[in-house]
Amino acid sequence: MDKLIIEGGKFLKGEIMVSGSKNAALPIIAATLLTDEPCVIRNVPRLMDTSTMIRLLKSLGKDVEWGKDNKILISSNGKPSDFADYKLVSTMRGSFCVLGPLLGKLGHAKVSLPGGCVIGVRPVDLHLKGLRALGAKIEVEAGYVLAKANRLKGTHMYLGGGFGSSVLATANVMMAAVLAEGETIIESAACEPEVEDLADFLTAMGARIKGKGSPRLIITGVKKLKGVNYQIIPDRIEAGTFILLAAALRNNNIVIKGANLSHLMALVDKMKEAGVKITENNEGDIFVKTSKNLKPVTVTTYPYPGFPTDLQAQMMALMTTIDGISVVTDRVYPDRFMHVAELNRMGANIKKEGSNAVVHGVKHLSGAPVVASDLRASAALVMAGLTAKGKTEIRRLYHLDRGYENLDKKLTQLGAKIYREKE
Ligand code: EPU
Repeated sequence: MDKLIIEGGKFLKGEIMVSGSKNAALPIIAATLLTDEPCVIRNVPRLMDTSTMIRLLKSLGKDVEWGKDNKILISSNGKPSDFADYKLVSTMRGSFCVLGPLLGKLGHAKVSLPGGCVIGVRPVDLHLKGLRALGAKIEVEAGYVLAKANRLKGTHMYLGGGFGSSVLATANVMMAAVLAEGETIIESAACEPEVEDLADFLTAMGARIKGKGSPRLIITGVKKLKGVNYQIIPDRIEAGTFILLAAALRNNNIVIKGANLSHLMALVDKMKEAGVKITENNEGDIFVKTSKNLKPVTVTTYPYPGFPTDLQAQMMALMTTIDGISVVTDRVYPDRFMHVAELNRMGANIKKEGSNAVVHGVKHLSGAPVVASDLRASAALVMAGLTAKGKTEIRRLYHLDRGYENLDKKLTQLGAKIYREKE
């Protein structure tokens, strides 16, 4: 397995391009199961997670080919299957969202439960509750969800849970409801831009959905959906990671291209409070204006449009060198703090107190051998490594490769000293 070596403290300068959104691409690829017609999806990031999703789709009766420029072409091979194997679903939670489309299209599905992971327990009760509300008979047996329905029936449901709305449960239920009989109303639907992108994709296929991007989705079932050519939105979490990196480096020379800043207003607001100004020009290029002395901040994550949990670790990496006391609370994944110990290994002063992490700013971080626990924690460690004095070695790199397209290459182009070595 590879490890990533970073020589910190280098001056970075130039343009960095944001890839297509991983978390939009995964359910959209799954949504192609709703039609027998060919689909073309553009701006798909080439990542371990999208490759896993493509392998899963191939096992479900689709031919999938990569074209030029991050495009994938998906067509049916005439042998649909309803069986999503543990080997594929357990490696990545996004793959569980084949359940809704399989059920909606075929009327039956056997899908492995996704694995738990280090960021928390991650149950699927809301997914199953929503599908049951549409009339599916669901049993869980030997690690698999067995779901059946003749034709799903629209209904009025509440889909919120103890931690707010659920992104993938909303995606699963919406994909099942588009082919259901009659009208489905989902209250407390997730409002994340990735869910809205999925709704736009389904609408392009011929689905009838009102309230996209709001907590109340109204879906009128149709009999059939068609193939489409569709472009995925930019990855707001990758863009946010680059903004936070520029701030952590106290660097005004990095231009972030191809992002959609309107998806990042909670971050822009928090950065303003810290003393970092984020602006956008007419071409959509993002500029970060930061001073040497930033102000400590208190950040609490919430479902969209709140501060994203997927930027919590990177925000903490920035806080480590802001003089004063900053506080982080994660209301989406209260246990998502595995990066604290690794950042402390690099000289940060972070204390976990109950459900908060209290960050006492230090003058600088120093390079150290660290282990990536999950995808966003890996990005936080890369940020920390680039700002630190000395050499950082990040192990368990596969997490990073699950979600950031060519990150080391993109950073090298800015002048970073970052390379891979075999362990
Ligand atoms: N939850 C339940 N029951 C459910 C589903 C979720 O209690 O049936 C809870 C979760 O445990 C959590 C909260 O609801 O406390 C929100 O979880 P959500 O379901 O929204 O998460 P997800 O849909 O499984 C997606 C992203 C995550 C991102 C979260 C929150 C994908 C493939 N994954 O997961 O992305 O953190 O939404 O925004 O879209 C990442 O990219 O690194 C990542 C983890």
